[in-house]
Amino acid sequence: MIQFDNLSQEAPYLVFKDKYNQSLKANQKAIEAICISSYSSKKKEVNGRYVNLKFVNGRKFIFFSNYKSPKSQEFTQHNQITASLYWSKTDTQIRMKAYIEQTSSEFNKNYFAKRDKKKNALAISSHQSSPITSYEALQKNYELSLLETNLTECPEYWGGYSFTPYYFEFWEGHESRLNKRETYELNKGKWIHGFLQA
Ligand SMILES: Cc1cc2nc3c(=O)[nH]c(=O)nc-3n(C[C@H](O)[C@H](O)[C@H](O)COP(=O)(O)O)c2cc1C
Repeated sequence: MIQFDNLSQEAPYLVFKDKYNQSLKANQKAIEAICISSYSSKKKEVNGRYVNLKFVNGRKFIFFSNYKSPKSQEFTQHNQITASLYWSKTDTQIRMKAYIEQTSSEFNKNYFAKRDKKKNALAISSHQSSPITSYEALQKNYELSLLETNLTECPEYWGGYSFTPYYFEFWEGHESRLNKRETYELNKGKWIHGFLQA
């Protein structure tokens, strides 16, 4: 589930919420999953991976990750990303282009303190995406972390990312293949609404 707080009442946010509600009602699995694509200007390489969207706060979409992971280094090098998701139950694709930044350490600390302790043990123990000798070694690090007394204290290398879109595309699949594609692009503070050919 995605938690919506003080959701922006601007048109694309209302469309996003409406499509989310429809997909939730239709029992969409993995409804939080969203692919984040980033660019490494050092490697001149594009990279993508799924994360779980946890909040939409005002105009900001928020997920959590390791601040030392490859994705985080890429966000530092190039703060523009694309985010895309597909909800099969309603045949809906949503694409966004956005600017990304870290959430505040206060926000991270509050969220971490309330999170499941097993998830926190993993967040603490894992040097995300660094090579490791075996899967057993990963499990051992995790088990040692589980024994730690303070699983509510957020490490400085873990926290949220919030991205604020300047472009949305809503794709709606139709059996006729005349798929409906609607766009919203921010121009001088106003959302310009348009349609694309299927
Ligand atoms: C459905 C799904 C949800 C995921 N959610 C997260 C997440 O919220 N945060 C995260 O750091 N990784 C998440 N992952 C793992 C990432 O896809 C990825 O393996 C990891 O973040 C390392 O990415 P990086 O090496 O590009 O930094 C998820 C994977 C899947 C398949």
